[in-house]
Amino acid sequence: MVAVVFTPSGRRGEFEIGTPLLEAARQLGVDIDSVCGGRGLCGRCQILCTSGSFAKHGIESSPSHLSPISQTEIKYSERKTPLEVGRRLSCHTRIEGPLVIDVPAESQVHKQVVRKDAEQRDISLDPNIRLHYIEVPEDEMEHSISNVRRMLQALENQWQLTNLTVDGSIFTMIHQALIAGKNSLTVAISNDGYKQRVIAVFPGFTDQYFGLAIDIGSTTIALHLTDMNSGDVLASVGCMNPQIRFGEDLMSRVSYLQMHPEGTVEMTEVVRDAINQLIDEAAEAANIDKRQILSMVAAGNPIMHHLVLGIDPSPLGFAPFTLATDDAIEIAAREVDLQINPGGRLYLPPCIAGHVGADTAAVLLSEQPYKAGSLSLIIDIGTNAEIVLGNQQKLLACSSPTGPAFEGAQISCGQRAAPGAIERVRIDPETLDVRVRVIGSEFWSDEPGFTDSIVNFGITGICGSGIIEAVAEMYLAGVLSTDGVIQAKRQAESDRILSNGRTFSFLLTDGDVKVSVTQNDVRQIQLAKAALYAGVKLLMDRFPTDHVDEIKIAGAFGSNIDAKYAMLLGLIPDCALAQVASVGNAASTGARIALLNDAARAEIQTVVRQIEKIETAVAAEFQSYFVDAMAIPHKTDPFVHLFKVVNKPAQAAEEDTQRKRRGRRKRD
Ligand code: FES
Repeated sequence: MVAVVFTPSGRRGEFEIGTPLLEAARQLGVDIDSVCGGRGLCGRCQILCTSGSFAKHGIESSPSHLSPISQTEIKYSERKTPLEVGRRLSCHTRIEGPLVIDVPAESQVHKQVVRKDAEQRDISLDPNIRLHYIEVPEDEMEHSISNVRRMLQALENQWQLTNLTVDGSIFTMIHQALIAGKNSLTVAISNDGYKQRVIAVFPGFTDQYFGLAIDIGSTTIALHLTDMNSGDVLASVGCMNPQIRFGEDLMSRVSYLQMHPEGTVEMTEVVRDAINQLIDEAAEAANIDKRQILSMVAAGNPIMHHLVLGIDPSPLGFAPFTLATDDAIEIAAREVDLQINPGGRLYLPPCIAGHVGADTAAVLLSEQPYKAGSLSLIIDIGTNAEIVLGNQQKLLACSSPTGPAFEGAQISCGQRAAPGAIERVRIDPETLDVRVRVIGSEFWSDEPGFTDSIVNFGITGICGSGIIEAVAEMYLAGVLSTDGVIQAKRQAESDRILSNGRTFSFLLTDGDVKVSVTQNDVRQIQLAKAALYAGVKLLMDRFPTDHVDEIKIAGAFGSNIDAKYAMLLGLIPDCALAQVASVGNAASTGARIALLNDAARAEIQTVVRQIEKIETAVAAEFQSYFVDAMAIPHKTDPFVHLFKVVNKPAQAAEEDTQRKRRGRRKRD
């Protein structure tokens, strides 16, 4: 008997000379991966022998205490990638003396993957699907046994897997797979917590399979094809949500359904078709067979969530905004006509409330405010803002009807973010001269290269981030009062203030397309931002708290807006500007985490069940919070952090003084 210690786990045991290392590791419960079951095919069981004297363990370890390199290892190196120096296949290496064995991260089943992409995240790789290679005995004339039963027996004999259920799709493919694989199969088994289910069979040996993380927004759909072994995103594709033809925003789609009860089928079909097209595109881009896609996670707001599943979302259009289900869903993707491997699984995280969906659950999984001591405010702004406030003690969530103004809709010169749209605005407070930046150009409009850089598209309108900056800059320049009224008195100073009957507008650019901000545009932005702010105040009130430690803005909108302008406008509450961050497409990141880590699914299900849901539509205080939030940045909230770094416009400071005086007089 000799001593063997495995690192990094530190597990130790005494083994007989000649014991295969993989077997020793298994006996000690050391985490070593294997797809081929010790046949020297997969290379997942690689280890490294550490040499030297380990006083702590009382072991003199040396590679010479391992059996000589086997023919199987030589063949593996020839057939796949050559084994790195010092690496051995633990399934074909025997113990011949005392050893300290290192199990590298990539050989561990539960490996930690450090993501290198835009949303830097460490994800522990532990998906709920595993591949198992088996050799299935031939059927015999005298004791004929069905293909499926022989497969199950092989799984029991070779992998000690019992009590498996078999997905119906297996029956149609097992015969061909056995023939093509010459009676060897790679079997994919999913674990949904209650059952282990055989979901796919592939002929012969394979150790590759793929997954999809999908963010189904009401405007766009984004899909990320992921290698389930490495966690790498191999292809990211996206498209506009084709349901837009039934209504720009969610509520107009629900209205369409209320008038056309058969519309659910139509809307379900178009969104599923769009996802199927994206699957084809991603598979082609990554050059993979989509039958190797075995797992999908889809996150969407409650209406998208329901429509993908073919559920009529009309009840979400009116109080009490009843969800069909608020549980996580795990089904075969084919049940909702999504075309991956016929046995492939689809997981949808749970919806939180009638207007706070599985996409917000995915954002939470990505940002994990429930593990932090600091108080986070997380906002996902679309036509509906989904808002979560909380920390490790508790989480509160609500949604607020911001409408489509932040997406450029209902704004006179508004447009979606596309080349030609104004996205940045600066106004000189003295001269009221305007500089803009436009999507598609890297220059400001007063820089030499600007005109040439926009020659192919010109200035076409203003997008959501542009209108936010425009209104905030108008306020800073004294063109707007705190009540949001365009100041006619400054008309004498600049020909940019134009009169439109009884109201005024402010001209931003005067090219082929004149882009201006009208009084009504300012109102639309005020209504949208007041709805958002009132939702935030409601959550702060119920928490209760008078401040937030950090603000995270999710979604494409969050990536484009400047925190300073969002705060100046009173879109978000006061907070140190350095603590306001865009968290990008956190819903997609959360979906990827749920795809790659089974435990994360259980985690988010538990977290969602504990969230306190606040319904803005029935909260008595919402209306007064809304009215106070119409002012820029706010009627009463002082925005201390903000005005430490931004000079309050003279007119606003004067208005503050007058308000205080009025308050004093009233008290006297
Ligand atoms: Fe597959 Fe060792 S377990 S090569």
